[in-house]
Amino acid sequence: MCGIVGVVGNKNATDILMQGLEKLEYRGYDSAGIFVEGGDHASLVKSVGRIRDLRSKLGIDVSGTAGIGHTRWATHGQPTETNAHPHTSMDERFVLVHNGVIENFKEIRDEYLPHDDFKGQTDTEIAVHLIAKFIEEDGMSVLDGFKKALSIIEGSYAFALMDAQDPDTIYVAKNKSPLLIGLGDGYNMVCSDAMAMIRETSEFMEIHDKELVILHKDSVEVQDYYGNPVTRKSYTAQLDLSEIGKGTYPFYMLKEIDEQPTVMRHLISEYANPDGTMKVDSEVVKAVQKADRIYIIAAGTSYNAGYGSKIMLEALTDTPVELGVASEWGYGMPLLSKKPFFIFLSQSGETADSRQVLVKVNELGYPSLTITNVPGSTLSREATYTMLIGAGPEIAVASTKAYTGQIATLAFLAKAVGVADGRKEAQDFDLVKELSLVAQGIEATLSEKEKIAAIVKDLLLTTRNAFYIGRKQDYFVAMEASLKLKEISYVQCEGFAAGELKHGTISLIEKDTPALALLSDPEVAQHTRGNVMEISSRGGKVVTVAMERVANADDDIIVGDVHPYLSAIAMVVPTQLIAYETSSQRGLDVDKPRNLAKAVTVE
Ligand code: M6R
Repeated sequence: MCGIVGVVGNKNATDILMQGLEKLEYRGYDSAGIFVEGGDHASLVKSVGRIRDLRSKLGIDVSGTAGIGHTRWATHGQPTETNAHPHTSMDERFVLVHNGVIENFKEIRDEYLPHDDFKGQTDTEIAVHLIAKFIEEDGMSVLDGFKKALSIIEGSYAFALMDAQDPDTIYVAKNKSPLLIGLGDGYNMVCSDAMAMIRETSEFMEIHDKELVILHKDSVEVQDYYGNPVTRKSYTAQLDLSEIGKGTYPFYMLKEIDEQPTVMRHLISEYANPDGTMKVDSEVVKAVQKADRIYIIAAGTSYNAGYGSKIMLEALTDTPVELGVASEWGYGMPLLSKKPFFIFLSQSGETADSRQVLVKVNELGYPSLTITNVPGSTLSREATYTMLIGAGPEIAVASTKAYTGQIATLAFLAKAVGVADGRKEAQDFDLVKELSLVAQGIEATLSEKEKIAAIVKDLLLTTRNAFYIGRKQDYFVAMEASLKLKEISYVQCEGFAAGELKHGTISLIEKDTPALALLSDPEVAQHTRGNVMEISSRGGKVVTVAMERVANADDDIIVGDVHPYLSAIAMVVPTQLIAYETSSQRGLDVDKPRNLAKAVTVE
């Protein structure tokens, strides 16, 4: 999704903006641009495509000590150079970058700007014309004109605004879209996420919704929309620059798949004491104990991780677990139980759909927990409690280690709650030992990459569709596995409850249709094998991924046994590798699939 970076002070702004934009690439974008103020001259450069395309357009005259940059993920208008940000007022005095969606942009255009000419189709261009109107036509100061525009604009936004006549100031405002201030010595920055600024500073300051920030090289002034000053402490981020590199890996996704055993071991050290007891915040445990129902709200892979944890959570906490698709629940919650507890699962902690639900949950006064990989993220700040996955930055759009990390984190919570409740099931579940076995099992699967590559070459290299099936926990894994294949290899793939095939979908099976069957549960594996026969006898080509305890000699991929509660973690890894191989063998950009963004910050 769109990314913003800005800097003012004693630094080479062009370098900082370009490096920042490169760090924001992982979020997904289709065009980019920068505006740089050099005192006696200013430059605006935009390009469709990658940051390297933008870089190739920069002349040596694009220099200065202040500027704003942007990666755009098109919402209003095609991904063209004209629609790329920064956008300018008609006389090019005011320059604006924006992340989010202005819902009333048409009304603003018709009511306030009926005679303006617009170069492109974006809502952002309307916003910068509106700001300019209040300043240039109505005689307001820049700050007041910006505030007046903010009082009219509805929707989500993170804005960074510059005035070509005042190259020493950047005006910033936010509502619902992420934005962060970076503090330096003789310079200050603004950015959509810390990663783009970590090369320059590790000192950050949050901005809350409906706050405005005036950035100078030596000062940062925060105020609300009424002009009341806001005092905000800065904090030091623990990001490690080396974690952001991909080393010798061809793609981040492969690196992140390989990191999963480390993530499992990190979580053991984070959430278990050396004696095997749980190290989970007792306040969270008590809050879950009081609940009569746990609601897990999430999107995409995080939603699938919720399903991958449901059986374990219910068994260990003895509390029913209901899943909610964030993008649906934002528009209306079902009838809730009397004492609900909400868990928001989100790698980025910024997903707008999930946040929309969290805002409602907070209005209703219900307790909530965010499980996220990003400390200080919006969902983390706004929920009652946070548990961090600590998986290290996940850069590839396709989420892998966050999925397995979320399930493992939930396992610690579930065990802690179950033990606090005195439940035998929880006391007997040796999570530290079982998760260590999972880490070993993943390592064994990771050593099968060549075999998996050969399976992909044989089965998925040219197909347009595929079917993934499983029962119970394996069905939930099939949902995630199929999402992974779809998003990075563009193969239309559905994850099915194996028993559902015969109720309709089996009519799509024809000669050589690829299918993948997941088998980990002795209670149901034979039934799924029956479905495998049904597919094979109609000409489909089936790959079987089986856990040792149910495996046959002729299964294609065998996964080491792990505790049934954690089987989703172990079973998903071969399917992550299958998705990765399919995408890379097809020559696609594995880390940046088309149309997708890493942090989905618009509704
Ligand atoms: O950051 P989140 O976990 O909240 O993101 C939710 C989804 O957008 C995300 O999981 C998406 O489905 C991934 N690209 C899937 O790999």
